Amino acid sequence: MTPHRKKLIEVALPLDAINKESAREKSIRHGHPSTLHLWWARRPLATCRAVLFASLVDDPSNDLPEEEAKVERDRLFGILEDLVKWENSNDENVLGRARVEIMRSTGNNPPPVLDPFCGGGSIPLEAQRLGLEAHGSDLNPVAVLITKALIEIPSKFVGQPPINPEARGNIGNEGNWRGAKGLAEDVRYYGKWMRDEAQKRIGHLYPKGPNGEFVIAWIWARTVRCLNPACGAKMPLVRSFWLSKKQGKKAWIEPVVDREKKSFRFEVRTGEGLSPDGTVNRQGATCIVCNTAVPFSYVRAEGKADRMGQQLMAVVAEGQRERVYLAPNEDHAAVAGKAKP
Ligand SMILES: C[S@@+](CC[C@H](N)C(=O)[O-])C[C@H]1O[C@@H](n2cnc3c(N)ncnc32)[C@H](O)[C@@H]1O
Repeated sequence: MTPHRKKLIEVALPLDAINKESAREKSIRHGHPSTLHLWWARRPLATCRAVLFASLVDDPSNDLPEEEAKVERDRLFGILEDLVKWENSNDENVLGRARVEIMRSTGNNPPPVLDPFCGGGSIPLEAQRLGLEAHGSDLNPVAVLITKALIEIPSKFVGQPPINPEARGNIGNEGNWRGAKGLAEDVRYYGKWMRDEAQKRIGHLYPKGPNGEFVIAWIWARTVRCLNPACGAKMPLVRSFWLSKKQGKKAWIEPVVDREKKSFRFEVRTGEGLSPDGTVNRQGATCIVCNTAVPFSYVRAEGKADRMGQQLMAVVAEGQRERVYLAPNEDHAAVAGKAKP
């Protein structure tokens, strides 16, 4: 039996460098798989890359006395620290040095990597980057699709030129399609085409904010008619009126109630202050106009009878490098009624 050889991961890791790069990845907005499709439990690529490398590369203490092993381990740490940097993700020089170490520790025959719970595909992607045969599976078909798009489809188009008409007409650009660059060019071209078409066909259903802001979300409340016959307001069912609790960027929806007219409207408030309590809790709902307690049994019955309504409470738009929260306006509410799915 081959004696057990300790791997680097069993002895030591440059954790500070790995943690720092893993945390940094969260703010990368361009070229990261998280921008391809949202996956809620995605592991940072830097961590996956480091763990794969350190699980395959031998710790030097297998062959060297501790003093010399430490020097050699520091050299491997240097490779690992370069390897986890986002900027080096496609640096053939850095990747090449890592691949040499993996080959050396595995007798030029590295094992294939299988991640049976691959989620967003971070582990198979990093295995592939390190030159390893990579496999993944997942119970969730969305995860399977994301992983296919990351590791299976691009590898089928390696070195191939794009096929879109614009690129084909670009004479003199042949032969410059290393890796999946040709496929990426097509994805960009046809992605833009799809976005432009969508804009043409349904763009009118997505009005901009008052200063031309691009709207990213519309926050609605379900409503039911208040049980109190003397009130009868279309009461909103809202768990929380908070829009943002971030320090320095607090924003909330403020219901402004006119008890005489039994009506209300919503405003958006920012700055210091507190959002009012929501109108729904574990016990039931409360009418925002007359404070009558309304049991869930009534709310459910109204829903089943198809008597629930909805009211727009706020609009979330993209401002200058931050979200802006806007009070609802008539255009935004009216356009939702026009859309015919
Ligand atoms: C923590 S996530 C994996 C995250 C992944 N490493 C990444 O970086 O995106 C766990 C995954 O296990 C999958 N899963 C849970 N139970 C499973 C099962 N019985 N068979 C296959 N996949 C399963 C889930 O669908 C989920 O995608």
